[in-house]
Amino acid sequence: MSNLNEELNSVIKISNLSKHYKLGDVSICALDNVSFSVDSGEMVFIMGPSGSGKTTLINLIGGIDHPTNGSIEIMGEDIAQYSDKELTLYRKKRLAFVFQFYSLIPTLTARENVELTLELTLRKRRNISKIAEEHLTLVGLENRMDNFPFQLSGGERQRVAIARALAKSPDILLVDEPTGQLDQKTGDSGVSLIRKIAKEKKKTVLLVTHDHELECYADRVIRLRSGQIIADEIDSLMTNNTEGLVSNGAANI
Ligand SMILES: Nc1ncnc2c1ncn2[C@@H]1O[C@H](COP(=O)(O)OP(=O)(O)O)[C@@H](O)[C@H]1O
Ligand SMILES: [Mg+2]
Repeated sequence: MSNLNEELNSVIKISNLSKHYKLGDVSICALDNVSFSVDSGEMVFIMGPSGSGKTTLINLIGGIDHPTNGSIEIMGEDIAQYSDKELTLYRKKRLAFVFQFYSLIPTLTARENVELTLELTLRKRRNISKIAEEHLTLVGLENRMDNFPFQLSGGERQRVAIARALAKSPDILLVDEPTGQLDQKTGDSGVSLIRKIAKEKKKTVLLVTHDHELECYADRVIRLRSGQIIADEIDSLMTNNTEGLVSNGAANI
């Protein structure tokens, strides 16, 4: 019975996943027979040193790249079998990304950046400006909606990217190195904000980082080394003390 429950709760189920890159005659093994599942609403961090396969893994789950072997079941469907057209639809409907450099459009305001993504992804366009405003308010930018990216600090730009990602209401949020561009305190509050909203809205989050200071925000940490999982740990601190840490973190925003 518990096995059945596990199956039903898994939003992501990775089995024997490998990725080899070919460079001329040389084959580089970026991911080597990796298996794990992620439950609905879980916040999982992928950690490991540079070159350990973190970005490769997130790109495969994000449907940006094709695996060499293995399956990537997302809500019961193996996206490794998808055509490019099906992958585009999958990315549009199920996923949102927060990239390291935020990828905001410099000539659009914060509000317009969020609205544009909604115009490209939502079928019903009636409430777009309301949804954009709601999400920018959720990340604390209610007074900065009509500012352009160059008028915002790094932390504020990251919050626009977080609002934009969550406004399309994805099932899964993928975040790659969220603190790379920020000082420790600002980076921390961005991740604690992602955690707070993801928990409220019951979103599944996969977050890649090499920053050990952020581990306290994870439900679970999967550690990679040379393309293999060397540890898969429930974060006992977070599980035992979720409320305290989340509210402390949120107070820094
Ligand atoms: N497009 C590519 N072509 C060839 N090798 C690649 C490519 N992308 C990544 N790699 C190699 O795969 C390994 C894992 O890379 P990556 O997933 O980017 O690691 P991380 O994100 O943990 O730093 C590294 O050895 C890297 O050099
Ligand atoms: Mg990387």
